[in-house]
Amino acid sequence: MKEFTIAVLPGDGIGPEIVKQAVKVLDAVSEKFNVKLNYKYGLIGGAAIDETGVPFPDETKEIILSSDAVLLGAVGGPKWDNLPFEIRPERALLGMRKLLNAFANLRPAKLYDELIDASTLKPEVVKGVDIMVVRELTSGIYFGIPKGIFVDGDERVGINTLRYYEHEVERIARVAFEVARKRKKKVTSVDKANVLEATVLWREVVEKVHKEYEDVELNHMYVDNAAMQIIRWPKQFDVIVTTNMFGDILSDACAMLTGSLGMLPSASIGGKIGLYEPIHGSAPDIAGQNIANPIATINSAAMMFTYSFNMPEVEEAIDRAVRNVLAKGYRTKDIYSEGCKLVSTEEMGDLIAEEIKSM
Ligand code: IPM
Ligand code: MG
Repeated sequence: MKEFTIAVLPGDGIGPEIVKQAVKVLDAVSEKFNVKLNYKYGLIGGAAIDETGVPFPDETKEIILSSDAVLLGAVGGPKWDNLPFEIRPERALLGMRKLLNAFANLRPAKLYDELIDASTLKPEVVKGVDIMVVRELTSGIYFGIPKGIFVDGDERVGINTLRYYEHEVERIARVAFEVARKRKKKVTSVDKANVLEATVLWREVVEKVHKEYEDVELNHMYVDNAAMQIIRWPKQFDVIVTTNMFGDILSDACAMLTGSLGMLPSASIGGKIGLYEPIHGSAPDIAGQNIANPIATINSAAMMFTYSFNMPEVEEAIDRAVRNVLAKGYRTKDIYSEGCKLVSTEEMGDLIAEEIKSM
């Protein structure tokens, strides 16, 4: 029997409620697919600050490094917003990505036909949208040095540095082309090569790697234009590969094409241990009310089976289960429309887990 250990980090806000539903689904998968799953729970973000004083305690690092994959809920909230920058909950996320060398962040934005009316865009614009954003995650302006707030003469200056080494661009480009090969074989590399030298290099390296993938079509787009094109005609995109910060921004835009941030998962891969988390945040305004949508977290757990456990059939099964439950008309509040059956976080988790067991 296959056996895997998953580090489970619920985090803050709605994190614990949604992670609980994903674990229900994992338990159903374990039964159905005859795979043994061990869970190791750890503290992260605000929850860790409250207990230990730091957002990413050593004990959590040990849990992660002794697991096969990490499932994360969300971190952050108003309670910790006034803490010094270096110990804010968000630092834990960045620290973890770096620790795991999870340089490739895959953020699929796929519209479920059942939710076509949940999008704010016209149905004919979003119908069939299926984009994979491949965001560079461990370098660029998020990590480049010098960084900080410094004193210069009689005023202060804030500095961040956009910085990319060739090998960093090369490896993310390779991931994008590999992913595209299993999809519609089209990569759009997004940069700002008309202004930023770091992305002139980015473009050159992407072109060079492309020579090994001539079966995949490549085009380049400036980020401002890309933002516009995503809203104007999203179906022109298959795989988008871009820098850390551009990817952060464009992936939120892509998410909204599909109706709700509450639906979209992510996988951060490249290192030995993959990290799986919903792309939404901790939503403190609705935490503890049993109304959050757990599907993004459930779909993140699904991606774990494809990218860390080499069991893509499980991701397909979870995807089918989610679709079936939506097709039967069940909706959490964020994706509710008239005539549907409104369910809680817990109920949505139960429904999807049951669907898998009965498949
Ligand atoms: C994301 C988030 C994070 C990021 C924050 C919370 C640090 O916005 O995962 O997209 O900017 O990477
Ligand atoms: Mg973001």
